[in-house]
Amino acid sequence: MAATVRQMRFAPFVDLLGGEGAEAWDILTASRDAQARGEDVIVLSIGDPDFATPDFVVDAAVDALRNGDTHYTELEGRPSLREAISKKISASAGIEIGIDYVTVLAGTQNAFYAACRCLFGVGDEVLVLDPAYVTYEAAIASTGASQVRVEQPSSNGFRPDLTRLEEAISPATRGIVFSNPSNPTGVVLTEGELAAIADIAIKNDLWVVVDEVYSDLVYEREHNSIAGFAGMLERTVTVSSVSKSYAMTGWRCGWAVGPPELGAHLSKMALINLYGLPGFVMEAAGAALRNGDLEVEAARRTYRRRRDMLVEELEKGADIPLLTPEGGMFLMADVRAHNADANSFAWDLYRKTGVSVLDAGAFGAPSRGWVRISFGVDENRLLDAARRIVAYTR
Ligand SMILES: Cc1ncc(COP(=O)(O)O)c(C=O)c1O
Repeated sequence: MAATVRQMRFAPFVDLLGGEGAEAWDILTASRDAQARGEDVIVLSIGDPDFATPDFVVDAAVDALRNGDTHYTELEGRPSLREAISKKISASAGIEIGIDYVTVLAGTQNAFYAACRCLFGVGDEVLVLDPAYVTYEAAIASTGASQVRVEQPSSNGFRPDLTRLEEAISPATRGIVFSNPSNPTGVVLTEGELAAIADIAIKNDLWVVVDEVYSDLVYEREHNSIAGFAGMLERTVTVSSVSKSYAMTGWRCGWAVGPPELGAHLSKMALINLYGLPGFVMEAAGAALRNGDLEVEAARRTYRRRRDMLVEELEKGADIPLLTPEGGMFLMADVRAHNADANSFAWDLYRKTGVSVLDAGAFGAPSRGWVRISFGVDENRLLDAARRIVAYTR
């Protein structure tokens, strides 16, 4: 007997989960599959650090597991880890931020989503500096709020356009969202830019949600946390994690730092969808934060060296202007002289050279015509990839 096909009905919420530009990632899937088949491809379309999680961090998790740290934990996170996070954020904000401001969550991504759910709702408008990390769109949409994209034009090196930001404010505006350093552009905001955003937020009584997952990977200037600017602590939510700084993307440990009143709501979010992070994961993250300064320094030096090498090589290419990133692990290249459609450029490059890069248009309109090139692979492969790209452009 033929099975009856069931007409499944889902909540309208599921329609909000996609976001635009998802097809840009097809090249990542294709190139990873090819790599798994042993083909000669170099995957520069994702930002997962190629280092191993430091041994002492893994040991901390193993010790915790062996010692029975396998039970439910505190919803807001273990005090020792919250203490370590509070020290880290206090240092980059230049003010004392207590542990009552810290909620541990399952990565930056999860912290960003949880914060948005607690801050924004139907009818609200949230300003997003554009281009922006791709998942912000769906996370904001899931709250019922609308995102208002504020373009940061490539002609200005994708730096924040503060006039446009002010002009985008309406009576419905509730918040400003950005990543600092930025993924995809690698822009690190100056003190002046942060102060101007802080002024706008204060004047219009807005929340600021800032993603600082790349804050340890800043190459020239100091990274500043906007939470430390006068009048900002009570209106800022800083989300970050151990993912990029300590090569711990798979551990899923991050945090939201914001006013304790928000923390109480975030703990309830953690109750209904997480029920606390695994204790052994928190022990590992705590060990990384407390004892991992040398590893972070080594990672920063390595990425910086790779960035410089990539820029030096790619500058030999024809008609491929570059934006040297100030932070993070990606470099942006303008490929419009070769192909107005950066996704089709990326596919053609991949088919002819085996180098997989990402269409940066997936991150927003201002980065259409650009590709994002990761430097999360070792130097030899990166040099090989850069040479293939240069040969392709000639
Ligand atoms: C800007 C940005 N935010 C968040 C994430 C995800 O970080 P996590 O692993 O902490 O969830 C990434 C990962 O690429 C990212 O680039």
